[in-house]
Amino acid sequence: MKIIMLGAPGAGKGTQAKMIAEKYSIPHISTGDIFRSNIKNGTQLGMEAKKYMDQGLLVPDELTVKILLDRVAKEDCAGGYVLDGFPRTIPQAQVLDNALKEIDDKIDFAINVDVPDENIVRRMGGRRACLSCGATYHIEHIPPKKEGVCDACGKELVLRDDDKPETVKNRLDVYHQQTQPLIDFYEKKGILRTVDGTVDMKDVFAAITGILD
Ligand code: AP5
Ligand code: MG
Ligand code: ZN
Repeated sequence: MKIIMLGAPGAGKGTQAKMIAEKYSIPHISTGDIFRSNIKNGTQLGMEAKKYMDQGLLVPDELTVKILLDRVAKEDCAGGYVLDGFPRTIPQAQVLDNALKEIDDKIDFAINVDVPDENIVRRMGGRRACLSCGATYHIEHIPPKKEGVCDACGKELVLRDDDKPETVKNRLDVYHQQTQPLIDFYEKKGILRTVDGTVDMKDVFAAITGILD
């Protein structure tokens, strides 16, 4: 099963994608996580991506597309995957479509996690992320067992550089301009499914599994 997660920054794409990956035993592929791990390791790609991410802008398609296509070509993706944060522009969606067509394949579902902008800004300030394993927490809704420490791997939790309120506003603007058109794109293909992302994360997940099962 090949799934795309759509939704504004902070809608809960990552939270839900991790649960989907576990339940259906498929890899969770987040372009944001790939960039953050490159930034942490000081790679050339990381340094280039950081320039855009810190301003809340999209990393150029040329950089992003290649990374994603390399990743989905790996063996562990043969049985499907859940994409989180890709595609984010119409050109990215077209590149993915064409690459899949070449191997006579297609995306099964695009799940749109719907959360209004007002809720997003509140969520971001409370988010804490583990830059080692990609786990995310929220200081009120989903706190880690021990403050500031990742439950999954024991590493330190941080407030992401791009979760500052001014940057969140830019990310929302970029989302509305460049990413939201994908909702229409996948609707036209007949594979769009929208779930209410404002309810408890377990209920969001129940709605998603209701679609996928
Ligand atoms: P990326 O890492 O993809 O960030 P994003 O889309 O802005 O999304 P987030 O990770 O911030 O949010 P999320 O939807 O995953 O929510 P989460 O589950 O964490 O991208 C970062 C940057 O990288 C981009 O700005 C861009 O520069 C670059 N980039 C990445 N991909 C790219 C691409 N394809 N092309 C170009 N550039 C790219 O949840 C948010 C918070 O809410 C958490 O604290 C969580 O615990 C909490 N939460 C989750 N669900 C619920 C719930 N139901 N109720 C209450 N709280 C909840
Ligand atoms: Mg995420
Ligand atoms: Zn961790």
